[in-house]
Amino acid sequence: MTTPTNERITPHRIRIFDTTLRDGEQSPGCSMSPQQKLVMARALDELGVDVIETGFPASSQSDRDAMAMIAHEVRRPVLAVLSRCLAGDIETSLRSLEAAANPRLHVFLSTSPLHREHKLRMTREQVLESVHKHVSLARSHIDDVEFSAEDATRTELDYLIEVARVAIAAGATTINLPDTVGFTTPEEIRRMFQQVIAGVADVGGAANVVFSAHCHNDLGLAVANSLAAIEGGARQVECTVNGIGERAGNCALEEITMALKVRQAFYEQDTAINTPRIVATSQLLQRLVGMPVQRNKAIVGANAFAHESGIHQHGMLRHRGTYEIMRPEDVGWEDSQMVLGRHSGRAAVEQRLRALGFWLEEEELKLVFEQFKALCEQQRVVTDPDLQTLMQGGPSNQ
Ligand code: KIV
Ligand code: ZN
Repeated sequence: MTTPTNERITPHRIRIFDTTLRDGEQSPGCSMSPQQKLVMARALDELGVDVIETGFPASSQSDRDAMAMIAHEVRRPVLAVLSRCLAGDIETSLRSLEAAANPRLHVFLSTSPLHREHKLRMTREQVLESVHKHVSLARSHIDDVEFSAEDATRTELDYLIEVARVAIAAGATTINLPDTVGFTTPEEIRRMFQQVIAGVADVGGAANVVFSAHCHNDLGLAVANSLAAIEGGARQVECTVNGIGERAGNCALEEITMALKVRQAFYEQDTAINTPRIVATSQLLQRLVGMPVQRNKAIVGANAFAHESGIHQHGMLRHRGTYEIMRPEDVGWEDSQMVLGRHSGRAAVEQRLRALGFWLEEEELKLVFEQFKALCEQQRVVTDPDLQTLMQGGPSNQ
């Protein structure tokens, strides 16, 4: 089977490789049925991701079924499946990819000393041979082949460069350098990408290879590390919706996308993500896997655009830019929220009352604000119905 390769990547366009259905789904409590994966794949297509990794076909019938359903319906993005460096896995993966409009075979092998010695029980030479053999095998069937050097960030740099050279010479079109255990730091990963990219430059075909970052979040650095990898030359980022994934998760799609958008002048990169679809996609995944995000989660958490303190609310009423770096509607929220509570000031209460149809004189407002403060001693948040009751002299006004 041969397929057209991806269109050439432009220097200012980061490819979003979504692995919610593979790396995300394999994390505790996040498994999805084939039907649920199909629903999610449709949403990812609408969101505008470039690549959807649908699963690991050799690992389960469920992943094979999901891929068959997705390949039949989702035709725009590249569909990738994961495969170990084993001929049997590659065969199964190729069969799964047959129905895809834009298929990619993603093969991986660990390269770090720890993994070579304790997981694979393979020497450096054996790993190199396996990479050569299996990337060549994959490439003899399909034009779009990604190779991942698992645990790249804990691999000796000179050896990692050797591995990448072998994979490119064997025909890999994307080289992924994962931070499998979320161990690296921004400065370190930026340098790693720069040095590996420089170290393969003379290999035939290297100029067309896309370098990819795949960062886990064990130290809470997955997004920062992915941004640093981009500074080092990565042009594909692997991520998941809501950052779901093994252990502490993967780089969160919504965070990396909005970081690139909000700081476009700095990074000079953008994605093709349809950002107003972000919140709906996040909420769909939360419902599908039954895993809500925390309220203060960046971009998609309930508090991401909520303001309670009087100083912030006052600033927001004068100019949204004082306390918001992006517009809620740009990520799919209807609006910012002024939460009325103990920290709120008079301006915010007055504004909310006006929105509810109460235009008060100065003295009246002073009195109502005192009553509002008293109410805040009894409850965390004061809602619109609470304010209405207060205005009608109801129980909370006594
Ligand atoms: O974290 C990792 O190294 C992976 C690879 C299989 C790409 O998920
Ligand atoms: Zn991973």
